[in-house]
Amino acid sequence: MSSKFSKIGFILAVAGSAVGLGNAWKFPTLVGQSGGSAFILLYIILTLGVGFVIFLAELSIGKISEKDPVNAYKKLAPKYKKAWSFVGFTMIGSILIVSFYALVIGWVVKYAYLSVIGQLPNSLELSKIEFENLTAHDFLSQFVCFTLVFFVIFYIVSKGIKNGIERLNVWMMPSLFILLILMLIYAMSKDGFVLALKFLFIPDFHKINISNTLEALGLAFFSLSLGVGTIITYSASLPDRTNFITSTLNIIFINLLAGLLMGLVVFTFIFEFGYDPNQQGPGFVFVSLATLFEKLGLVGHIFGAAFFISLVFAGITSAVSMIEPSAFYLINTFKMSRKKALVLIGIFVYILGILCILSSLDTTQFKILGMSFFELLDSFSSKIIMPLGGILIAIFVGFVIKRETLEILFKPYMRGIFFKIWYIFVRFISPLAVFVVLITKLIGFYIKF
Ligand code: PFF
Repeated sequence: MSSKFSKIGFILAVAGSAVGLGNAWKFPTLVGQSGGSAFILLYIILTLGVGFVIFLAELSIGKISEKDPVNAYKKLAPKYKKAWSFVGFTMIGSILIVSFYALVIGWVVKYAYLSVIGQLPNSLELSKIEFENLTAHDFLSQFVCFTLVFFVIFYIVSKGIKNGIERLNVWMMPSLFILLILMLIYAMSKDGFVLALKFLFIPDFHKINISNTLEALGLAFFSLSLGVGTIITYSASLPDRTNFITSTLNIIFINLLAGLLMGLVVFTFIFEFGYDPNQQGPGFVFVSLATLFEKLGLVGHIFGAAFFISLVFAGITSAVSMIEPSAFYLINTFKMSRKKALVLIGIFVYILGILCILSSLDTTQFKILGMSFFELLDSFSSKIIMPLGGILIAIFVGFVIKRETLEILFKPYMRGIFFKIWYIFVRFISPLAVFVVLITKLIGFYIKF
């Protein structure tokens, strides 16, 4: 990344990174599996108390250093440069993520295609079978869709930040929101809507436990693209004199809103079709929305196609942001051409992606630690690498970067008491909260065995 974003370009790019399949695919699935409202409450608290704080910390590292993640730590650490630069390698987490993420975008491509040809399943049962057929039996479709998505992503990254990323975001974000709002208006006319509101917003504190908390924490990191170098990389191109506090608040608001709107729509129709929201698997969003679109006939097909296509774009703007940190690092450190860096990263991502497909097929299935390779990459990145990356970022900004340097950066946009509160959070509260969740979960894990 050499050139800078425009001011609005920065917000759109980071919001484009944040809003994606995390909101559309992960969020409803986890909300369903983890008991609804309690999970949402945890997610909102952790997004504000940890996500927001670490987001600003990560942004500070990027803005002050104007480097890729590894070289940023090297440049800013006054001593132990080499050791700190290893923290930058948490960016490998985003490469692991993109390998399964591109596959999920591939599923969305398949559903967009089914909408266009008017072949979506017309009941929830059929929809579940259709989804299972795709993920457990259909190598060819997954292979073709994944490969297509893979090339589109790498093509966009090869164009660099201005041409590739900015333009895409200008269109993607508004259209996705317009479609979501139209779906919400339709959902409001259904009986399932009130049940969905209750399920999502009336807190049931009995359902809060350490597993849910770790899931919610992982989702807060995943959905804000934190802890794996993406925000450092994008902030390295943050234009001067940008009010990054309001930008960050906007991004967090947009991201929360996208998840909640998505959740409301998906759960309305789960209730409307008479199903138990706790009993749905990872294909939740596909299963529920595909059925809805089919039941609406031709209008549903057109709407479904528009919706799944904008979801593909939302996913692509996130995927692009996962590759940029490593590409930026390889280009800076080894003076590689962008093309060569992308070929290297691409080979790695492609192999992992194919392994993800194979690990879930019933003919070639393989498991590691009781999980498919896909699930392993997903859990490892969002429940270990991202939170760990978050703790290290907080420690670096809270204890290694000088307070005066941060004050100069923050002064025009966040002063006095607000800065002091953020600083206490970044030094103590946020990293400690993440640490306690991780450790408690780990101890629980050992006690079980
Ligand atoms: N925030 C993206 C989403 O919610 O879909 C996922 C993501 C993007 C994770 C970029 C990590 C990342 F570096």
